[in-house]
Amino acid sequence: MNLYSQVETDLETSKTVCDLRSDTVTRPCDDMRRAMSEAVVGDDVYGEDPTVNHLEASLAEMLDKEAGMFVPSGTQSNLCSVMAHCGRGEEVIVGDQYHIFIDEAAGASVLAGVAMFPINLEEDHSVSAASVRPAIKDDDPHCPISKLLCLENTVHGKAISLETIKNAASAGSDAGLSVHLDGARFFNAVTALGCAPHELANIADTVSVCLSKGLGTPMGSVLTGPKDLIAKARRNRKILGGGMRQAGFAAAAGLFALDNNIKRLQEDHDRAAHLASELKVLNCGKVQQDTNMVFFTPEIEDHVALHTHMAGYGVKIGGQQPKIRMVLHKDVDDAALTACISGFKSFFS
Ligand SMILES: Cc1ncc(COP(=O)(O)O)c(C=O)c1O
Repeated sequence: MNLYSQVETDLETSKTVCDLRSDTVTRPCDDMRRAMSEAVVGDDVYGEDPTVNHLEASLAEMLDKEAGMFVPSGTQSNLCSVMAHCGRGEEVIVGDQYHIFIDEAAGASVLAGVAMFPINLEEDHSVSAASVRPAIKDDDPHCPISKLLCLENTVHGKAISLETIKNAASAGSDAGLSVHLDGARFFNAVTALGCAPHELANIADTVSVCLSKGLGTPMGSVLTGPKDLIAKARRNRKILGGGMRQAGFAAAAGLFALDNNIKRLQEDHDRAAHLASELKVLNCGKVQQDTNMVFFTPEIEDHVALHTHMAGYGVKIGGQQPKIRMVLHKDVDDAALTACISGFKSFFS
């Protein structure tokens, strides 16, 4: 039995008041559900769903891109983009801890014949210009053709500064590479950096934004970029089985999130900072916090007991080892956070 299934068994008997495993666990609020049920819909594969079209245009405009495309997931958005930028035998240069490289089942290689070249991250989880430059291959028949640089922001909760990410992107584009930004938590980055969305989006040709993380929708991402690339990506979405029909129901949740849930992200960051400050005075190992994520590293032998203890307080925490991740999101209010902090205090004191 692994740690997760042990914890799941323990949790079955308790009521969850606070699920901190991820910001993907949020449930749509009543107003979002209402917006979904009232959505005007059409067949999106024919381009006839007005709500999808509105969502795509809205996000493209916010990010100062020509076009957008609604997809079921962040993974599909990234893959549609990689396949639009690269053909077989071409190469993506990507951070070695970035989602596209470690958490998307190597779809770019499996399905598109695209090679992935991972580069080490800096201390702050960024990719540096100095590590991008030597990764770009000369035109040599021994090598794949370097075509695309994939960056991420936020990364493990860390908002990479505009200057750092711009430098990395320029190292790629100056050498003729295109740049894709995996912005699964794009608006957490924008909130933390205090910049306008287009300032971060401008560093890349294509940007993928997830609606189903901190923005709280049940599903969906939007890929934005130049018209010709999004047209290619649309064909790729069809190849991947992601052409949806009356998808306006889901897109309405996205429009609701753009209007209501971006402006509340700072609350999640504040609660994460509060949780981290409470943990720092307990004997629970190194604590790190950035944007809506908190990481801490209790003794390995304490992990199972800690998960079980927290379940007694109705709190679910990440099952990773040795570093446990906790993610704040819209469904964790002050009362839930207080229950969580009480649980930690009673375990570690
Ligand atoms: C950084 C990052 N990119 C992409 C994704 C993929 O999103 P999805 O789960 O919608 O496929 C995730 C999911 O957690 C993510 O954290």
